[in-house]
Amino acid sequence: MQNLLIQGPSQIAGSVYISGSKNSALPILSATILCTSPVVIQKVPHLKDVTTMLSLLSNMGMTFSIDHELNVFVENSTLSKLEAPYDLVKQMRASVLVLGPTLARYGYAKVSLPGGCAIGTRPVDQHLKILCELGAEVKVEDGYIVATTKKLIGAEVKFDRETVTGTENILMAACLAQGKTVIHNAACEPEVKDLADFLNSMGAKIQGAGTSTIEIVGVSELGGGAYSVIPDRIEAGTLLIAAVMTQGQIKLIDCIPEHLTSCLEVLKQAGAQIETSDHTVSLKMDRRPKSVSIVTDVYPGIPTDLQAQFIAMNAIAEGASYVEETIFENRFMHVSELARMGAQITLNRNVVHIQGVDSLIGARVMATDLRASAALILAGISAQGVTSIDRIYHIDRGYANIQEKLIKLGASIERKTSKPPHYV
Ligand code: EPZ
Repeated sequence: MQNLLIQGPSQIAGSVYISGSKNSALPILSATILCTSPVVIQKVPHLKDVTTMLSLLSNMGMTFSIDHELNVFVENSTLSKLEAPYDLVKQMRASVLVLGPTLARYGYAKVSLPGGCAIGTRPVDQHLKILCELGAEVKVEDGYIVATTKKLIGAEVKFDRETVTGTENILMAACLAQGKTVIHNAACEPEVKDLADFLNSMGAKIQGAGTSTIEIVGVSELGGGAYSVIPDRIEAGTLLIAAVMTQGQIKLIDCIPEHLTSCLEVLKQAGAQIETSDHTVSLKMDRRPKSVSIVTDVYPGIPTDLQAQFIAMNAIAEGASYVEETIFENRFMHVSELARMGAQITLNRNVVHIQGVDSLIGARVMATDLRASAALILAGISAQGVTSIDRIYHIDRGYANIQEKLIKLGASIERKTSKPPHYV
């Protein structure tokens, strides 16, 4: 079992390149199922979820190669197997993203239900509802989604609630549907827009992505080409918060500031000085952060994927604050771990109340999900003493080389392999 040992406190200082977005790369890699000519995807982040997606696509018959910069060269996306098995889908819920493109291109797809995870039940009812409205026959049997169609037919459809991967699945399926599809109440996240930009560069006809109404005119097939994934706004926000918590300074290179507007607003309220250019964000923090209460929301609101990190910041900020989670029903597993480090924090349903303390104290804690593990790393870097974080496979799923990046920025982190404790 691997864990991270963090010696705090350290001050974050320096510049860092932001990696490609995990939540863009995953749908875009799935979308290559629709392409009939070779495709090159650049700026794919080096992380576990990407290798899991590539394993799934390879298992379905796709052939590709990867160079040392992790550019993915899809030589032939013709699938020989139209199934996503449970043992791969259980590793990564985003595997459900192969459902839409596989069904659209082949008229059949069998995908394991993703099941819940630490942050919630995470159903996919909306994905299935809309696929049926596009003419698919969808059954759920033995834990698998089985979808069939002679041909998807474009329609005017509406999600009952915003869903990022739901929007992405339907966007991909509608590309090959007969006629026009209009999606209402679509998710507006930048990763949805990035997927649409990729699909349009392969010959799709999509308008309105990034807004809540998206129009797709179906085409007979998609071609191929090269595409570069957008930078990861959640990695960017996480590193900015690290600099704020340690009263340091940081320059993010290769990021997109307008994807971070809500995050930058919170950090300015916390007392950070921030300058932006087209592809950089520079932040300087020369005081203890002020507490900032936040409510998570869909884009362009404060992202749920930064909620845990903002709680870690408020835990050592001046004053009291609250953080309300409106997207997932159980995304507070990090709260009890932060309390082990001395955070004064209470949870009441989907609201956390925090009284900032001068400093957290290093302790042994456990990562429970991807973003919670990031929050614990930030807490460990700012805390007095040594923090040991167990189950860090969560962090490896979603942050490319985060340990190396933070060490380069001044943190003291080492990765240890330990035997699981033996209790008699
Ligand atoms: C995407 O998950 C992201 N993952 C998540 O990032 C992110 O937290 C989430 O969007 C919200 O922004 C990827 O893009 C791979 P949703 P997704 O469908 O699409 C409910 C990370 O840390 N819902 O937008 O699965 C659902 O239960 C991950 O990188 C339904 O009820 O999230 C949740 O409460 C974590 N029925 C809410 O909607 C459905 O059919 C939003 O879920 C679909 C969703």
